[in-house]
Amino acid sequence: MTTRRVSVPHLKDLRQRGVKATFVTAYDYPTAHFADRAGIDLVLVGDSAAMTVLGLPDTLGIGMSEMLVFARAVARATSRALVIGDMPFLSYQPSDAAAVRNAGAFLRAGCQAVKLEGGARVARRVRAIAGAGIPVMGHLGLTPQSTNQFGGYRVQGKSRAEADRILDDGLRLQEEGVFAILLEAMPAAAAAYVRDRLEIPVYGIGAGPLLDGQLLISHDMLGTFVGDIAPRFAKRYVDLGSTITEVFAAYAADVRAGRFPAPEHCYPIDAAAEAELRGLCEAVS
Ligand code: KIV
Repeated sequence: MTTRRVSVPHLKDLRQRGVKATFVTAYDYPTAHFADRAGIDLVLVGDSAAMTVLGLPDTLGIGMSEMLVFARAVARATSRALVIGDMPFLSYQPSDAAAVRNAGAFLRAGCQAVKLEGGARVARRVRAIAGAGIPVMGHLGLTPQSTNQFGGYRVQGKSRAEADRILDDGLRLQEEGVFAILLEAMPAAAAAYVRDRLEIPVYGIGAGPLLDGQLLISHDMLGTFVGDIAPRFAKRYVDLGSTITEVFAAYAADVRAGRFPAPEHCYPIDAAAEAELRGLCEAVS
């Protein structure tokens, strides 16, 4: 495993050698630090932060100002993983100029690449961003910023015709210069059909095992997502949410019972000064 920062050519090399890339989301310094230390290859500062961190109902309510705070923290914490800034709703749709300016802001925040959602309809934006020297990842299949067009979080690519439409979008994005594509919420066979017809790395979240790498949302893996959305693909490795609740409850019980702070949590003082101060306390009580 390389100790140098993962790069776009390195990811191409992994695909050629059939080595799976590992990919998680992070929005804060400690999570990004632990992911980097664990050898995760790619870290996405996802606009899913809207739901995982800010408690919003979908990803439409988060903007560049919030995303850049998260991106700076994640970038500071990593030395090996390739950090990708997820372009939020309305940061690239309005114009090529807005897309390049906002993609550039992610690089200035310390990211090495950006991701945006959509196929042929964002082809010009991809060309503009890649043309500015900024590595850009495409995102096809279920694209949460278009959830109102889909009518909810629906699996995509369930027929040959739908898979072909996603493939056409993938070919167009590849032509315009994306370095990789992320497929979300697709049956494994449809995702593999798309992947096998592209030359660039294709990663998946809920798109089966036959791809060049896998993404999961860290809050889903760690059991800290608070909300009703529980996608089939979200594998929970640990229930930190329950552990955190138990720890806070134990702390509250300790404080209420006078068990915390204990002597080992208190600062020592010279014995004579202590006796004098205790005497003064007793005098006023
Ligand atoms: O923001 C995010 O975490 C994402 C994934 C859901 C693919 O875009």
